[in-house]
Amino acid sequence: MNAEIEKVKAEIGKFSISSSEELEKFRLEFLSKKGKVPALFVGLKDVLPEEKRKVGQAINEVKVLAQKKFDDQKALLGNNKAQGSGEMVDPTLPSKPGQVGGSHPISIVRDQMVKIFERIGFNVSHGPEIEDDWHNFTALNFPPDHPAREMQDTFFIEKDPDIALRTHTSSVQVRVMENEKPPIRTLSPGRVFRNEAISARAHCIFHQVEGLYINRGVSFVDLKQTLYHFAKEFFGENTKIRLRPSFFPFTEPSAELDVSCPFCNGKGCKICKGTGWVEIGGAGMVDPRVLRSSNIDPDEYSGFAFGMGIERITMLKYQINDIRLFFENDVRFLQQFQREI
Ligand code: PHE
Repeated sequence: MNAEIEKVKAEIGKFSISSSEELEKFRLEFLSKKGKVPALFVGLKDVLPEEKRKVGQAINEVKVLAQKKFDDQKALLGNNKAQGSGEMVDPTLPSKPGQVGGSHPISIVRDQMVKIFERIGFNVSHGPEIEDDWHNFTALNFPPDHPAREMQDTFFIEKDPDIALRTHTSSVQVRVMENEKPPIRTLSPGRVFRNEAISARAHCIFHQVEGLYINRGVSFVDLKQTLYHFAKEFFGENTKIRLRPSFFPFTEPSAELDVSCPFCNGKGCKICKGTGWVEIGGAGMVDPRVLRSSNIDPDEYSGFAFGMGIERITMLKYQINDIRLFFENDVRFLQQFQREI
């Protein structure tokens, strides 16, 4: 009997388990009702009564050994399965490639816009997102307590003196005018903030690209041609532009900038609400008071400025119908955008 016990014990030790099939084979061979361990217990009835206790203990040890081996191997295989293989891990296999990151659609479009203007001589300027009243409003000819300030619902951080989240990147252009001498050709891309209710079409955070050109003899013709150049470069050679009279405190005259609808080529569709035109920004000739606030002599220099919303332009380019998607960082949305080289 003792020899029989030792034999089963050795077999258990030698049995190699590296798959769930082998684990099942092990269970059938040793632990199942008809397996070798229960068979040892059956043999116990032929053992002399005075030896029964000792032999019974030895068989029990074999049973515990088999059960432990089974449990350990099962746990090991379960872990490997959780890693996706279902089998033992082969550490010599090459690893799976990691997920490659990409640029946010707003960054892609911003860079495309910046490149178009860089090619015609604009440089890029940046400024703070937390801004004082002077740079965001007063230097831009928003008089104190003037209703024009309400055009842009502001997030104030401090009162007296007013400190706020900038409502447009025109504030950056004031800083450039204060620090540089004309000719100035600068582009200020950046994040801006307005205290607006969030909906599919509006968000309290968005991005702008604003442009400023100041030199001797700059006229509205230069403004129109620059915007026309941008529209053709960005939306395609057949794009047309339209300037509608408007009002901004810092430009005179001022205009809203429309481009012919890139989807129906101006025929009228759902995107342009049947008009053939879509608005992409504002523009105008820099008000002489704004130049004077920054110590630029309006008798010597003139300039134009424009501002466009990057979200609006990105939504047009990719036919996105909800601005909130840009801020949710859902990878299923973001994965759809690739840089065009
Ligand atoms: N700063 C304006 C805005 O944010 C846009 C603009 C810029 C309009 C320059 C005219 C000239 O709405």
